[in-house]
Amino acid sequence: MCGIVGYIGDQQAYPVLIKGLHRLEYRGYDSAGIALINEKGDLSCYKAKGKVSALEAAVSDKDVTGTIGIAHTRWATHGEPNEINAHPHFSQSRNLALVHNGIIENYKSLRSMLSSHGRTFCSETDTEVLVQLVEYMQESHDCNLFTATQLALKNVVGAYAIAILDKNNPDTLVCARKGSPLIIGVGKNEDGKNPEFYLGSDATPIIEYTDQVIYLQEEEIALMNRAGDLTITNLANVKQTPQLSTLQLSLDQLEKGGYPHFMLKEIWEQPDALRTCIRGRLNVSNKDVILSGIIDHKEKFINARRIIICACGTSWHSALIGKYFIEEAAQIPVEVEYASEFRYRNPVIYPDDVVIAVSQSGETADTLAAIQLAKQKGAFLYGICNVIGSSIARATDSGTYLHVGPEIGVASTKAFTGQVITLALLGLAIAKEKHSLSDEMFHMLIDELEMIPDKMQWTLEHNKDIASFAQMFTYAKNFIYLGRGYNYPVALEGALKLKEISYIHAEGYPAAEMKHGPIALIDEEMPVVVIAPKKGMYDKIVSNIQEIKSRKGKIISVVTEGDTVVRDMSDYCFVIPDTRDCYVPMLAVIPLQLLSYYVAVAKGRNVDQPRNLAKSVTVE
Ligand code: M6R
Repeated sequence: MCGIVGYIGDQQAYPVLIKGLHRLEYRGYDSAGIALINEKGDLSCYKAKGKVSALEAAVSDKDVTGTIGIAHTRWATHGEPNEINAHPHFSQSRNLALVHNGIIENYKSLRSMLSSHGRTFCSETDTEVLVQLVEYMQESHDCNLFTATQLALKNVVGAYAIAILDKNNPDTLVCARKGSPLIIGVGKNEDGKNPEFYLGSDATPIIEYTDQVIYLQEEEIALMNRAGDLTITNLANVKQTPQLSTLQLSLDQLEKGGYPHFMLKEIWEQPDALRTCIRGRLNVSNKDVILSGIIDHKEKFINARRIIICACGTSWHSALIGKYFIEEAAQIPVEVEYASEFRYRNPVIYPDDVVIAVSQSGETADTLAAIQLAKQKGAFLYGICNVIGSSIARATDSGTYLHVGPEIGVASTKAFTGQVITLALLGLAIAKEKHSLSDEMFHMLIDELEMIPDKMQWTLEHNKDIASFAQMFTYAKNFIYLGRGYNYPVALEGALKLKEISYIHAEGYPAAEMKHGPIALIDEEMPVVVIAPKKGMYDKIVSNIQEIKSRKGKIISVVTEGDTVVRDMSDYCFVIPDTRDCYVPMLAVIPLQLLSYYVAVAKGRNVDQPRNLAKSVTVE
């Protein structure tokens, strides 16, 4: 949730750290802080409540020199977002400064133990306990920072990614991780001799300087020094061999590219993003689908008794669409689970179950824990992630990357459609192995899937001028979204998008459920968004619209091009091109994404960084 950045090398650290914080701000933006050791050996620390820009303003007249430093942007878990609770936190002597992402679950007992040894605390955070514990170990065992960190972490229950500065060791930077990601970038100092090192919660603050990275593994501790040495051990002090990887990320993917917000950029990127996702996987000339992730594991899918998909939020919605598709195409029963519920039940998992994790970030703590549980119970694990090298991608037996490029806006858009198309590819790939579809149907689904990116482009072009229309709905306190079949999850997703960025309460329902209760909410004030393509259940949804109209609800519909019946019943209409039922979600969601975006803009909301949210939820 929080973002960590660090640097040790020949450059001035402050510009690297502050730029890194801006790139990581999507992970949390309650407060930010920075610690540096300057040439004289002073350890300086500056913090500010709010965004990284507030921190920049706060340090404008301060000494920010130094070639080693750590920085943090926070999403509060323990203690309100204020300057005191902002990271870095200091040890008692103020010789150590530490930044942390994660949660120390046993911080209360550690805090009482440390208090009984005379340590006093300034903040309410679990992080301050950690830095005090490291110093306590340093002093009580008379050891160096690295060993003290090992000893401290052996006593910690919970999740952490940490970076530590020691005033008495200005040439070393120590970091460690468990449960929360941490990446070390290995760059070249200007003299081309010793390497310089970067640290990041993800690759975004690093890519500008180097594409050579090491993904720190669970319970590993690393020590980097100015001489360019890197030592990695586990908690038991066993030396680990660092594995260097090359990042597949470019800097321009992290910029807004002329758009006012990342979210709008990412909405418009969808056609290209999905073209990249299916490239090399969908072969229209040969009428084939090739997913390398399942080639070596065909038998697992062919013989699967059941597929269980674990996910959270938007990824849970795409998983639901995946369930409908896989059941229809591959004839395997699919269950979709909220990862946070699944992990705390004692679910029945058979050895011939396939458990799929769907996650944009690949770091969602609940989803990661859910698959770890499934692994213990012997299931085969498959990951559908966007972030390459992420924890879920590494924890699964096999998987498929979305390849839709980095998603920076907190509200997920291109990752959603990327997940839906990836699940469709997966369903088709399994259907091919199981021969569960007729050749005719299989070919038709391939041909149509290939046309989806172009149809998305059409949808964007035909629905782009909705800013003034969205303005009319800023008054609304509630919205209802309705859909049936494949479009029920789209209704859920449309409602979630509106909630998270405009703060308007919204509910998604299966349209036919209205009459079982929610219809009581309908009056002339209530906008009802109905996904009503001219497909299978069209007549039924027309009846649902009539029921709402007769109670004076305002109808905003998503209809197929050429439709007149629903159009005439609607107060406002979004148009999408015709496609097969199972692919409608990838088109129908686009006007809903645009609607939530423009309503939020009209209400003056911070679209890319909505309140209380963070892009990647690495805590429970
Ligand atoms: O990275 P993940 O896909 O695992 O994230 C899951 C949810 O936290 C995420 O989809 C969240 O609901 C988004 N803010 C939705 O826009």
